[in-house]
Amino acid sequence: MFKNRKYCGELSIDNQGEDVVLSGWVDTRRDLGGIVFIELRDITGKIQLVFDSSDNSELTSQADKLRNENVIYVHGKVRKRSNETINENMETGYIEVVGDSLKVLNNSKVPPFAIDTRDNINEEIRLKYRFLDLRREEMQDTIIKRHKLMQATRNYLTNSRFFEIETPMLNKSTPEGARDFLVPSRMNKGEFYALPQSPQLFKQILMVSGYDRYFQIVKCFRDEDLRNDRQPEFTQIDMEMSFVDEDMVMEVTEGLLKNVVKEVSGRDIESSYKRITYAEAMDKYGCDAPDTRFDLELVECSEIFKDSEFKVFSGAIKNGGIVKGFSVEDDGKISRKMIDDYTSHVKIYGAKGFPMFKYTADGNLEGGISKFISDDEKTAVIKAFDLKKPAVLFFSVDKKKIVNHTLANMRIKVARDLNLIDANKLNFLWVTDFPLLDYDEDLKRFNAIHHPFTAPKENLVGMLDDLKPEDAEKLISQAYDVVLNGTEIGGGSIRISDPEVQTKMFNLLGISEEEAEMKFSFLLDALKFGAPPHGGLALGLDRIMMLLLNKNSIRDVIPFPKTQKGQCLLSKAPSEVSIDQLEELSLKVVER
Ligand code: AMO
Repeated sequence: MFKNRKYCGELSIDNQGEDVVLSGWVDTRRDLGGIVFIELRDITGKIQLVFDSSDNSELTSQADKLRNENVIYVHGKVRKRSNETINENMETGYIEVVGDSLKVLNNSKVPPFAIDTRDNINEEIRLKYRFLDLRREEMQDTIIKRHKLMQATRNYLTNSRFFEIETPMLNKSTPEGARDFLVPSRMNKGEFYALPQSPQLFKQILMVSGYDRYFQIVKCFRDEDLRNDRQPEFTQIDMEMSFVDEDMVMEVTEGLLKNVVKEVSGRDIESSYKRITYAEAMDKYGCDAPDTRFDLELVECSEIFKDSEFKVFSGAIKNGGIVKGFSVEDDGKISRKMIDDYTSHVKIYGAKGFPMFKYTADGNLEGGISKFISDDEKTAVIKAFDLKKPAVLFFSVDKKKIVNHTLANMRIKVARDLNLIDANKLNFLWVTDFPLLDYDEDLKRFNAIHHPFTAPKENLVGMLDDLKPEDAEKLISQAYDVVLNGTEIGGGSIRISDPEVQTKMFNLLGISEEEAEMKFSFLLDALKFGAPPHGGLALGLDRIMMLLLNKNSIRDVIPFPKTQKGQCLLSKAPSEVSIDQLEELSLKVVER
């Protein structure tokens, strides 16, 4: 019955006069007194069906009884619409199908929201009825583009000599910095698998095994606090290559992204991206994933204010803090109220205030803290910020970390509030030369900034032998991140391929020999059996989709996402399990 089925959206004037079989969902029904019009929808689009009572009254009254979302089977003839009934807004608007038989394959309850709605539907309802939400054109378009992105990835990488190789889901934990999702083992009581935070170790092993270039479109699992660009289970385009350096990995990534962006959004992007070092990113933007679609670059003013009479600034500098700020052109849009709101808003970043003043058309500084600033300081500020037009200057003064965190966020907030961001821009950027480690003052230990398998720059390997906390910033790694419009969409590095260097790295991270042996002996062993130099990168597929399609939430590009609380509202996971299941696993739930 379905054998020669045609797709609604694929019919055109070329099919005029053909007998066709169509199946799909009733999108709308209109009864114009004896003539019933049905819009039939399938995955390709919609087509108008016509049932005329003067031709077949029984069939037409059957059509009149159809309800939205009924699943039907229709047989009919394609005909050109009369000129006055052409609908240019519809892909198939020049034709219609005159039905000559009709069968209802399934009925539908009244859906909780109209499938063709463009209005904002409450997200909870959408997620609970995801099967209906996914029926909406917007979602189908997204899911199909996601498919295209995956196919483009497979094509590009296969043509670039990569092999798609799977790695296990039931794993030993790999340290990517987040919490693991654990899976109890029934056969090995009291023992647990961890779901992979990424296939990091396995892809390195594949290089040792000689596969040269690996990729995988792979689910990764991280039990971390969720945000709009974070899911507990997400998809990576994961890659690893042998005999490469940083430039080569970046080149392959750029080529891949160029193809992917073209496929998903039809846009041509540049073939190589601007690169800035981590140090420069922190200096100019206060963060390692800057949005470069607008300026508002940060300028450090500690030198200017270190001996200032204005003790809020000079005092903080004397206590090891810094003063930094940005200027934004003042075209009268920055109101008193906005400034007051910013002053209280910055508290969420740990800042105590958000000092400001204005630079006026006649070259003076006024308002805010300007009265505390000496003439020399004023001149120096005007020079440092290269002020030419009226502007508002915002500052942060505190420990470097707080200042950068505050200004990085406020830069974006101010840009958004003043509409300085061109939503059509796609600004790709490499951030390179990350430090290998940072030092946690509270815990008195080093942490890996990327992960413990990242190699230092070759000429700095010696620093691993006796690294002082104060020198951590100088130990630069071969790690790089790719950033799109202020969101990190990928990260990777050249790896340590020398087992001795890897052991030194574990030592520095305070990972004891026993712990390293227990957790990573398979990698350390593998490195001892002829490891090629290798490196790679993983792209966040969901994040790329989200940014390319201009969605506000990562949940809008994932077929079955979790809420901010990690729940699936459709299946109601996570849920309690039976006592029997727990007993089989020798587990007991302890009330907390
Ligand atoms: P990293 O941890 O930087 O690197 O992850 C790579 C990319 O994955 C995406 N991503 C996420 N997307 C959605 N939700 C999350 N919770 C989430 N966490 C990460 C980001 C990120 O840039 N093994 C290394 C890669 C390597 O070194 O080759 C890794 O996983 O876009």
